[in-house]
Amino acid sequence: MSVLLSQRCERCRRTVGEFDTTPVCPDCGGLLEIELGGIANAPGLRATFAERRAARAGIDASGVWRYRELVLPTATSADIVTHPEGNTPLLARERISAWADMSELLVKHEGHNPTGSFKDRGMTVAMTQAKRTGARAVACASTGNTSASLAAYAAQAGIPALVFVPAGQVALGKLTQTLAYGALTLLVRGNFDACLTLARAASAALGIHLLNSINPFRLEGQKSIVFELLEQMDWNAPDWIVLPAGNLGNTAAFGKALREAHLAGLISRVPRIAAIQASGAAPFAAAFRDQFATQLTVEPETIATAIRIGAPASWDRAVRTIRETHGVVACVSDEEILEAKAVIDAAGVGCEPASAASVAGVRQLRATGVIHADDRVAAVLTGHLLKDPGIIARYHHETEPPPSRANRPVEIDPTVDAVARVLDQRRAAGVQS
Ligand code: F0G
Repeated sequence: MSVLLSQRCERCRRTVGEFDTTPVCPDCGGLLEIELGGIANAPGLRATFAERRAARAGIDASGVWRYRELVLPTATSADIVTHPEGNTPLLARERISAWADMSELLVKHEGHNPTGSFKDRGMTVAMTQAKRTGARAVACASTGNTSASLAAYAAQAGIPALVFVPAGQVALGKLTQTLAYGALTLLVRGNFDACLTLARAASAALGIHLLNSINPFRLEGQKSIVFELLEQMDWNAPDWIVLPAGNLGNTAAFGKALREAHLAGLISRVPRIAAIQASGAAPFAAAFRDQFATQLTVEPETIATAIRIGAPASWDRAVRTIRETHGVVACVSDEEILEAKAVIDAAGVGCEPASAASVAGVRQLRATGVIHADDRVAAVLTGHLLKDPGIIARYHHETEPPPSRANRPVEIDPTVDAVARVLDQRRAAGVQS
């Protein structure tokens, strides 16, 4: 397979070289996209990927680098900064399917990545490229997961990390990870959109590599969620892939992955993408209703802080994903997100609030008849349950009156009698213990 790699501006089509470190097009400021040459009808890729699955160590053990022909084919083992990452499970759970009114809903759990979110898949590639191009420092703006991932991979690469996060709006698990992994953490008085504007300006002024998902190498890594999912389904593509959407990097990455998987002959049919936003932060869903006639921004507000974003950066490329896959964009309320999360958690799977938007979205699209009960659907859970312990404590422990699925803890004296009394009370109330 011949390997050619360049970065092309999505707006004016100018190309820059593989090792150019400009964060955006030097002519028009448009976002750059990685162009992989020589992937059309690449025979033998399925077999190559399958063989590598047996690896216990090295880059083949990574669920990102195992697909390297379609990720960053020019990187060598010596360049690659890998944990490893990926290799996340594809689960089917009766209770989740039933709640979403599906015969079988599959969930791809990206919370099983090393720092607990799908961000590690993009970060291993962007950090590898930062190392290959001699970065002296790396930075990102984040609602928390990207910063946790950046901090961990920067520590591994030995590159100083700087993160910009919205003060008071980052879930505890994510902020504590970022501090623990050693990133210089700036709590910015503003929302995520303000953080990203500042991170872009500061990294340009100070010569720091920006590793947000406007960085095209991030998207190359995130494509592997789709490759791994398709491989887990024996390359028999589902009807739908459903994912939560905030800054729209993942929506863009999924479209590119499907385009390339189809071009390479890995799949014969392209699934439809459903991108799900939180109602209080849903400019993309609003624009979809108007056939994307205008690019919108909103003042974002939602309990799903990971996707509390009002001015998504990867807008145009996400529009392309929705158009090319005949996809849809929907939005779900905070109440729907919390209920979906309680169902996913109580099934023993667990996820953070933003992730539950995908399953809440499936339920809504079933109710409106867009998705059919026996469609083959895979929903992506983007982050781990422990990312946001605060919201779990509020839901189960503090909210009055208790939400319908609240699991209240009971304080007792240290006696067997006290235990028996609680069990009796619960039996009397008709609750199974
Ligand atoms: N789910 C989780 C758990 C996230 O952390 C994010 C984004 C998304 C979904 C949305 O993905 O932005 O590609 O549309 N988190 C970013 C961050 C913004 O900084 O960690 P997207």
